[in-house]
Amino acid sequence: MKITITENYEASCQQAAKMFVELVKNKPDAKLGLATGGTAERIYELMAKDYEAGEVKFNKAKTVNLDEYRGMPADSPQSYRSYMDHWFFDRTDIDKANTYVASGTAPVEEELAKFNEALYGDGKYIDLQLLGVGVSGHIGFNEPGDFLTAGAHVEALLPSTIEANARFFDSPDDVPREAFTMGMADILKAERIVIVMSGDAKADATKALLMDDKISAKWPVSFLKLHRDVTVLLDKALADKIGYKA
Ligand code: F6R
Repeated sequence: MKITITENYEASCQQAAKMFVELVKNKPDAKLGLATGGTAERIYELMAKDYEAGEVKFNKAKTVNLDEYRGMPADSPQSYRSYMDHWFFDRTDIDKANTYVASGTAPVEEELAKFNEALYGDGKYIDLQLLGVGVSGHIGFNEPGDFLTAGAHVEALLPSTIEANARFFDSPDDVPREAFTMGMADILKAERIVIVMSGDAKADATKALLMDDKISAKWPVSFLKLHRDVTVLLDKALADKIGYKA
């Protein structure tokens, strides 16, 4: 793992955005693995800014999103499809026909077949996968437990995830209880991974990645230790909080 301690969250976002922009400049038809959530918003804003400045075009890029709430209509403001439109797709020249965010309302088996088609149907792996980490240690929506799941599947969200995501809803009761998600093997097949870790709430998950050498289904994020090319962008405040020294 390449671990970079950045000055602050903004600097982490700048570095993550730069990795995507450089990739697409060098490889216009790159396949991008995308995440949603609060951490990623600024990264997309910065990528869109580079597009507006004429630095990069996304019109040949392909994207696959990590997850979508099960039962959530695509046009609902809280869907991850709406999130992607708002923060990234509608701000750039990306061809939405080349984007995949699971449909939350489709029959499960049908949608999982589409998810696998988006991941593997073109015979290409994701060039660069963006990740955040959940308070629970999840990546995508792969929640901790006795075991993890390799492929795309429907996952039940843990109470801590529902609580953390309640900020995007009127009440915690409105947070969907399940989500479609890439599995752990899907994530680990990406050529490169970048994960942005920020905020005190992520301290335990960050420790599980950086402060010991264990890999455990209790901390899905710890499986990133198995991957050959992971960049961890950790801001100074969180590094200090967990006592991590470069
Ligand atoms: C989102 C995703 C999740 C989030 C994680 C952190 O597509 O897969 O793993 O990255 O829950 O969310 P935030 O950034 O809101 O703290």
